[in-house]
Amino acid sequence: MSQPTAAPTTAIIILAAGKGTRMKSALPKVLHEVAGRPMLGHAIAAAAEAGANQICLVTAPEQHAVRAYALSEAPEIINCIQENQLGTGDAVRAAADAVSGVERVVVMFGDTPLMRADILTQLSMSDADVTVLGFEPDDAATYGRIVMDATAPARIVEFKDADAETRAVTLCNGGAMGVHTEVLSALLPLLGNDNAQNEYYLPDLVQLAVQSRKSTALVMGDVDDTLGVDSRAGLARAEARMQARLRAAMFDAGVTMQDPNTVYLSHDTVIEPDVRLEPNIKIGPGVHIAGGALIKAFSHLEGVTVGPRAIIGPFARLRPGTVLGADVRIGNFVETKNANIRDGSKVNHLSYIGDAELGLGVNIGAGTITCNYDGFKKHLTQIGDGAFIGSNSSLIAPVTIGAGAYLGSGTAVSSDVPKNGLTVTRAPRRDLKNWADNFRRQNQKED
Ligand code: UD1
Repeated sequence: MSQPTAAPTTAIIILAAGKGTRMKSALPKVLHEVAGRPMLGHAIAAAAEAGANQICLVTAPEQHAVRAYALSEAPEIINCIQENQLGTGDAVRAAADAVSGVERVVVMFGDTPLMRADILTQLSMSDADVTVLGFEPDDAATYGRIVMDATAPARIVEFKDADAETRAVTLCNGGAMGVHTEVLSALLPLLGNDNAQNEYYLPDLVQLAVQSRKSTALVMGDVDDTLGVDSRAGLARAEARMQARLRAAMFDAGVTMQDPNTVYLSHDTVIEPDVRLEPNIKIGPGVHIAGGALIKAFSHLEGVTVGPRAIIGPFARLRPGTVLGADVRIGNFVETKNANIRDGSKVNHLSYIGDAELGLGVNIGAGTITCNYDGFKKHLTQIGDGAFIGSNSSLIAPVTIGAGAYLGSGTAVSSDVPKNGLTVTRAPRRDLKNWADNFRRQNQKED
């Protein structure tokens, strides 16, 4: 039996020094989000998933925010500065010195958020000295064209440099590339900029490799892998394709969606089998929904754990720090934040539950508010098992409601409530006989 070959050690270089001017944004292009994560975060995650031993990020000098984000995502990332944006080949040169002790280098772009780790792995594993990523879009537009000899890429020609015959080629360059490290070191200094854009083109490595009798190869990707974002419309296209990918994964995981195109997921959404999602739901980052839960229409979840068989919405807003136990019910126009609501508890209508700990089987009546904020600090509300909070109650935190306590409707409490009793605060009632009749008569006379 043959031994499996060990994967070659690999550095992945992420190019992100482009100006991204077409985004017309104060935010650097690669920090714009797709499925709740900056595009650069997707690139870093794909590089890590592909098993990169080193990840190098190439940015322009002024892109401090991009470097800071990258370090927050991957502290081991190596930041490389490209002083002037003289082309993709020049950008790789800016990282070449930082690459050390690896057999392969894979170059990818920071603005292709749908690039799959699997493609990067194929580029890294390739036995050829230079391996390019090809794809065949419906419209080859202005992509670089890959010109093949009998079996392998012979050269890549940028659209602006291509004659009519080359422009007719339908095989396009996806941008990413895998190169054996010693070949990269030998060929990078040979790149020139005698072309339509006076740029140092990374794809010129193909022709240089062929001239140096090095081998080349092609890995095929699909249009999503290479989908680059350079405008707001491109960002929306990438979001749509990413959502399609995430929804397909949900179907595979056993999730029901009545109208999948209206359900928006995040890159890290985890949903267990037999969850049902009604139409028009937005799920932000950090959400885990356990099996059998039902999320009804028009609900918004972010930073939330939903327990088994919980029923949420319609029109619920679950904010970060919400943890719901099994069989919890959260109804319409309820907002929760930083709230631990344990098994079997119900908050069915028009409530705000923030900075709160609810025990087992608590019932929260309509219109109940945890008054958690005094203008300076947030305070905790604790509600014991089986407590019943009457409608329209105000729980002025910090406050603890004892287990089994019963709060009469309309109660406002600002000190602890004993367990198992009835606590009620209400203004005394007054009935002024015939007051309304007199009032109307008086006002009509004055008219
Ligand atoms: C590139 C390829 C083209 C391919 C296309 C696929 C080159 C010369 N052309 O063109 O063959 O079809 O991708 O999308 O490679 N960047 C830098 N520094 C620079 C220039 C670019 O870091 O000096 C980065 C950009 O931030 C971007 C990436 O490299 O992330 C690609 O650059 P871009 O100018 O957009 O290349 P394309 O025109 O898309």
